[in-house]
Amino acid sequence: MRKLQSFWREQMKPTTKPANPNFSSGPTSKRPGWSVDQLDLKILGRSHRAKEPKARIQKISDDSRQLLGIPEDYLLGLVPASDTGAFEMAMWTMLGARPVDVFSWESFGNGWVNDITKQLKLENTKLYNAEYGNLPNLSIANPEHDIVFTWNGTTSGVRVPNDEWISEHRKGLTLCDATSAAFAMHLPWRKLDVITWSWQKVLGGEGGHGMLALSPRAVARLEQWQPDRPLPKIFRLTKSGLVNKEIFSGATINTPSLLAVEDHLDALKWAKDLGLEKLIKRSLDNLDAIASWINQSSWISFLAEDETIRSSTSICMKIVDPWFAAKTTAMQRDIIKQLVSLLESESVAYDIGGYRDAPPGLRIWGGGTVETRDIKLLTPWLDWGWLKVKNN
Ligand SMILES: Cc1ncc(COP(=O)(O)O)c(C=O)c1O
Repeated sequence: MRKLQSFWREQMKPTTKPANPNFSSGPTSKRPGWSVDQLDLKILGRSHRAKEPKARIQKISDDSRQLLGIPEDYLLGLVPASDTGAFEMAMWTMLGARPVDVFSWESFGNGWVNDITKQLKLENTKLYNAEYGNLPNLSIANPEHDIVFTWNGTTSGVRVPNDEWISEHRKGLTLCDATSAAFAMHLPWRKLDVITWSWQKVLGGEGGHGMLALSPRAVARLEQWQPDRPLPKIFRLTKSGLVNKEIFSGATINTPSLLAVEDHLDALKWAKDLGLEKLIKRSLDNLDAIASWINQSSWISFLAEDETIRSSTSICMKIVDPWFAAKTTAMQRDIIKQLVSLLESESVAYDIGGYRDAPPGLRIWGGGTVETRDIKLLTPWLDWGWLKVKNN
């Protein structure tokens, strides 16, 4: 009976569209009610080093710290080149002092592996990799080593489920790329030494700028150990052997976009009014809405089979219809492209194709800026689009 109901649901063209079709995984949807008219633009056209603009830049760190509960003794600053810039500057300035354990399970984590092995060419490195949809065994992380990992794998929809595997008594540093986790998942700050994220992710900000948080132990590494490699200006975190505190008090290394600063402050205000718990719940509700739909579906499933590691932000799905499974990967990618284009042409969903390196499938962003009612309105369109493409 359930299957029959689902069959009829899949046949009919839905009549109601999501109010906001933006389900991309980055840049992600703006907050509900966002409008450029609401941004305070009086600092535009001024020097970012002048008193007022500098105070606005500093407010980003202050608001983020307060909302996320970042310990007072951690440094937090705005750095160039988005999350990639923040994470690479940390790796380039801090890795090499100790052996490194690197955990990866999707494209971005694999990118850090590539940096560590092919660019930095670090010798004492252990790589622990898992296929898309799975997580490597994190419990083998050696507390004597530095540990590099991504909290939420944006291209596979697999997240770290807890922090039990990170030792409180570790000697090495933990470097955590948290770009699609911060503001949507609890982060155990005291167990993390370097934490990075970008504005264009969970709060729906603009691209270009990254955030870098450093524990006192990460600061000690910067001050007590210098890598034997050239560092470009935008990677330099120390001055005369000490950490450059100016970078963490509103004085950026180079020029930021003040428009992006104001846009991010607007998002932070919205997020602060809600509070972190509600922000996290909005994301979990989005995952629940997709899960309820998938439970009744005959053609689609989560890429991550284990629900304890399933991401609530980058929700990745695979097609389980036998007709699809029998196709070659190239044909499967083409089918997905047709489905994504069809939904885009109906203005019901933009940018929901899986990442180019991931297995062919769909990826729907479920971070807190996305309304659950829009996800619920999207799912009948997915059923309809699927049958249309399949029967084409
Ligand atoms: C886990 C992860 N790391 C790094 C990046 C790169 O981020 P950015 O483009 O902000 O540098 C992304 C982007 O989606 C990501 O999801």
